[in-house]
Amino acid sequence: MTSQQQIWIQSFVYVTLISLCLYSLQTLISSKLLLADLNNIIIRKKQPSLPLCFRSDGTFKILQVADMHYGNGITTRCRDVLATEFDYCSDLNTTRFLKRMIEAEKPDFIAFTGDNIFGTSASDAAESLFEVFGPVIESKLPWAAVLGNHDQESTMTREELMSFISLMDYSLSQPNPSAGNTDEHPPTHIDGFGNYNLQVFGALGSPLANSSVLNLYFLDSGDRAIVDGIRTYGWIKESQLLWLRGVSKKLQGQTQDSNEILGTLPLPSASPSLAFFHIPIPEIRKGPLEAIVGEYREYAACSSVNSGVLQNFVSMGDVKAVFIGHDHTNDFCGYLKGIWFCYGGVFGYHGYGRAGLPRRARVILMELEKGNKEWMGVERIKTWKRYDDEKLSKVDEQVLWDIGSSR
Ligand SMILES: *[C@@H]1O[C@H](CO)[C@@H](O)[C@H](O)[C@H]1NC(C)=O
Ligand SMILES: *[C@@H]1O[C@H](CO)[C@@H](O)[C@H](O)[C@H]1NC(C)=O
Repeated sequence: MTSQQQIWIQSFVYVTLISLCLYSLQTLISSKLLLADLNNIIIRKKQPSLPLCFRSDGTFKILQVADMHYGNGITTRCRDVLATEFDYCSDLNTTRFLKRMIEAEKPDFIAFTGDNIFGTSASDAAESLFEVFGPVIESKLPWAAVLGNHDQESTMTREELMSFISLMDYSLSQPNPSAGNTDEHPPTHIDGFGNYNLQVFGALGSPLANSSVLNLYFLDSGDRAIVDGIRTYGWIKESQLLWLRGVSKKLQGQTQDSNEILGTLPLPSASPSLAFFHIPIPEIRKGPLEAIVGEYREYAACSSVNSGVLQNFVSMGDVKAVFIGHDHTNDFCGYLKGIWFCYGGVFGYHGYGRAGLPRRARVILMELEKGNKEWMGVERIKTWKRYDDEKLSKVDEQVLWDIGSSR
């Protein structure tokens, strides 16, 4: 090899190395830039103002929306409306009803109790979810949802749906309980998606402003199942009830702390809780309801499995009322072993119903007790419904719980 050839090879190696270095440096820098760019376009989830708390007038109002049954929007026709209504009726009527309810009732929180989308009519679950929750997001109100038995029949699994819903603006939904939210013995696995609880604090500026005075449980009642070869609906599983009992125990400990703050006027043994899920429990079908306000129009389509939800609620003691959906034409509240079970009644125009019977929504109002001068814990829980008619007629107003009767 001549020395000229040697120099040529050396320079070649040298140039190659330099090019390689420059190339890697360039990729490194550009990928950094790209990442920085991506960071800039990431849209952050908009959060509602937290914690949830009672208004300074001592009230907290929840709008329950049951069975929106949303499909593809304007192209999805209404079911069970009068022949004269059919031509000008689509999912947009459901959206319009939601906007009217928000405007009329000005709720503090909105709870969707499942079948938010009717999967088989929704060609893209994400698109439908944006339309379903659009009016709520526009209103900037905090909201939460659970799943029904139809939500997963489109393009997302139940797990995907719950994580998507929990990432939407102003949503307080959670796929499942976060660590630290459960008692000392959190179950390793909780069945379903959408089991969580939210606490509502006392009125701003009151002695209980930093204490939970109302608790909201959300549970996944599943979709369908086959038991002993027979098709039936889903049910709330033991792992979910175990979690529920843990949360309830922990909350009752907190109520004792609140009693220390209040000193003289003790709260009842537990601040009241409400529960929200989709499929009714079997006792609603079989059990003797002690009182009924509203209409019991159809046989409750519950699971053939009784997992003991009612007994759990009774022994926990904090659940005063339960809000369900699923059976569209039922819209009653019925009393069972000290707990009210209330149907929302069908909200969505693409859900089955009865022609001539207006779609409807339920409102739940909590009122605080006035102490010497300041707001204390919850004194009363009321409910009523509104029809999607011209005047948004208000019907079936009733008191569900009163502290006087439980002290
Ligand atoms: C649906 O909305 C349209 C347009 O706002 C309205 O004309 C129609 O009466 C509504 N139908 C029902 C059944 O509410
Ligand atoms: C609640 O917490 C805030 C902020 O930590 C504090 O300023 C306020 O005094 C607390 N109120 C009560 C009633 O404890």
